[in-house]
This record gives sequence, C-alpha cells and structure tokens, in this order.
Amino acid sequence: MDNKLMLMIPGPTPIPEQVLLAMAKHPMGHRSGEFSAIMAEVTENLKWLHQTQNDVLILASSGTGAMEAGIINFLSQGDKVLVGNNGKFGERWGKVARAFGLDTQEITAEWGKPLNPDDFKAALEADTEKQIKAVIITHSETSTGVLNDLETINSYVKAHGALIIVDAVTSLGACSVPVDEWGLDVVASGSQKGYMIPPGLAFVSVSAKAWQAYETATLPKFYLDLGPYRKNAAKNTTPFTPPINLFFALQAALQMMKKEGLEAIFARHDRQKRATRDAMKALNLPLYGGDDCASPAITAVMPQGVDAEKIRSVMKKQFDIALAGGQDHLKGQIFRVGHLGFVCDRDILTAVAALEATLAHLGYGDFTPGAGVAAAGKTLLA
Ligand SMILES: Cc1ncc(COP(=O)(O)O)c(C=O)c1O
Repeated sequence: MDNKLMLMIPGPTPIPEQVLLAMAKHPMGHRSGEFSAIMAEVTENLKWLHQTQNDVLILASSGTGAMEAGIINFLSQGDKVLVGNNGKFGERWGKVARAFGLDTQEITAEWGKPLNPDDFKAALEADTEKQIKAVIITHSETSTGVLNDLETINSYVKAHGALIIVDAVTSLGACSVPVDEWGLDVVASGSQKGYMIPPGLAFVSVSAKAWQAYETATLPKFYLDLGPYRKNAAKNTTPFTPPINLFFALQAALQMMKKEGLEAIFARHDRQKRATRDAMKALNLPLYGGDDCASPAITAVMPQGVDAEKIRSVMKKQFDIALAGGQDHLKGQIFRVGHLGFVCDRDILTAVAALEATLAHLGYGDFTPGAGVAAAGKTLLA
C-alpha cells in the first residue's frame, strides 16, 4: 500500500497536513509585501522558539550549511578552536573547521558516551593566553542518541570568554535550548527536524558578541555571508531568492508549535523518549547510551543475537516503518528510533508493536510478547 510510510528516523521527520497544504500553493514574489509579512512573522516566531532576542537568520541550505555559516562568519584562518567530538556530527564540525584552515583541538569521547565537561574546563583554564577563539559542539549527537551537557560546557566557555558555537540540529524544538539565558553565540539548526517541515531551510542564531567577531573575521564567504542576511532580514526580506514554499511551510509549522507551547513540546519529546527507552528495556534490547544523557530526538538500540539491519529491513518491508541504521563503525550494529517533531504517542506504540512482531519473526525470543507495548503505554499514560 502506498502513502503509509511512517518516518521514525531523526530527519526528515513527518510533516503535518496543515504544513503540507500550506506548501501546495503557487509561489509568490519574494520582493512582495505578502512575502515580507510572512518573513516578519516567521522571524518573530523563530526568536520565540530559540528563546532569544538575537538575530535568527534563515538560509536555503541543509543543516550543514548553517554549521559552515557558523564557522566562516566569525573566525579567521589559523584561529584556534576547541571542538567536541563524540560522534558523526561532532566529527563533522572538525572537518568543516579544518576545511577552512582553523587550528582544531578536539575533545573526544567514545561514541555512545557524552562529552565530559571537565575536559573543556581543563583545556579552557590552561589557555591563559586566550588563544582559543571558539568552542564548537554538537548538542544532540544524532549518530548515537547522546545529549551533551551544553549548559555546563557553556558555563566554562563563558568563564573563558571564547565564542560558543552549537549544532542544535536535533535538539532545537525537542528540548529547551535557551539561547539568551545561556548566552549561546551561534546556534545552527535545520528544517527537516524538530521544525516539522521538509529539508531545505537552515537557521542560525547570532549573538551581539558573535556579530562583533564577524567584524574582524576574514574567512572567505559569499552565499553564506550572514551580513547580507541580517541587513535584509531587518527589511523583512532575503538577500537571494528563497524557497518560497518552504517559508509557507515554516509559517504554518511555527504557528502549530506556538499553539502547542514550548513546555508542552518539550514534555512530549521527553515522554516519548522515556517510553521508547522503557519499551526497549522491557524487550531486553540493550540501549546504546545511558538514560542520563539520552537525546530527546532519537534512541539508539544495540540488539544482541538479532541483526539490526534485518530488523530495519522487516520493519520497512512489512510495516512501512522507517528506522535509521548505524553510521560508520556502528553500521549493522545499532538501529535508531527517531521521535522528533511531528510524532504522537500512538506512533511510539505502533512502532514498538511492529518491533515486537519483527523480533518474533526473526526468531528473537528473549522477551515476553506484549512487554514492550505495555512498558511504553505505561510511561506514555503516567
Ligand atoms: C546533529 C546533526 N547535525 C548536523 C546534521 C546535518 O544536517 P544536514 O544533513 O541537514 O546537512 C544532522 C543531520 O542529521 C544532525 O543530526
């Protein structure tokens, strides 16, 4: 049967009908008054979502474009940066930084473990000459389902004075990222995640301190030069032709989010995260990464005695439920359940029930039938 695909991956995420319908219109001119009104509204609502008065700029790119913009606008060749790396996306930060000639010092943690804030504290305290210009980290490490302790790491960055540059691609819209309260300088995110719209837009919030750094930053840039985005946003327009229909989608999605409310959105993600984890425990499927650092967007599971890729294959073929696989050395070893964006409690129960049927079909017998659904249901209804 067509059109019943259920996306339980960490992006692209499912899209609400209101958002799909909002996109199904002819585009309008991007220099028109109508478009400016949309631009004004979404800019205001993006600030609400980011909990900030800083600029939140909108790019036509995937999330990586926002990451790149977050580096090239505020740093210069040879600048020393401290990069947190405990998974695929932390690793990407290092790659982007090195591609632009930055001097990277990496703070690593094993995949599946969170970055240790004390490592940042030690490196920053040792930097008495203030050579470190920025600390760059991934908040929710999607490849492993680990949420890094951004608040604590950031407190050490604040004591040092460097910029903090954050990939919040799978945390923004899933848990609180209070940009102003924490004083986050640059925060990157992408549309196909908590925003509940298709891929194609990326967002960068920029603090006053980061704009100061922009004045002296010399890395080459053109399309991702945030200066023109800021200037145009002040006039409710964009420097280049924007993907107009994605702006319609963004407008509708942000209206939905405002209606639901930040606290309710975060509580929903937290509840579904816990329900998913409780279900896996009840099915005796080992979780990859601890409860104390679990991402609100994604749960990684490392099954024993049953092949992770076979599980994904049956789930997709038989039940049309897409789960994510492992990346790099975790390929074939883990599967990842996305619970990000437009996901309701029923989706969690459906996925867990289908998983139970799949496990039984594959001959994995280390669970009581119904135990996963019962555990998830109990947590969802608590
Ligand atoms: C944490 C994180 N950072 C960055 C990205 C990159 O985003 P994109 O694929 O949109 O460039 C992703 C995508 O999954 C992600 O999960």
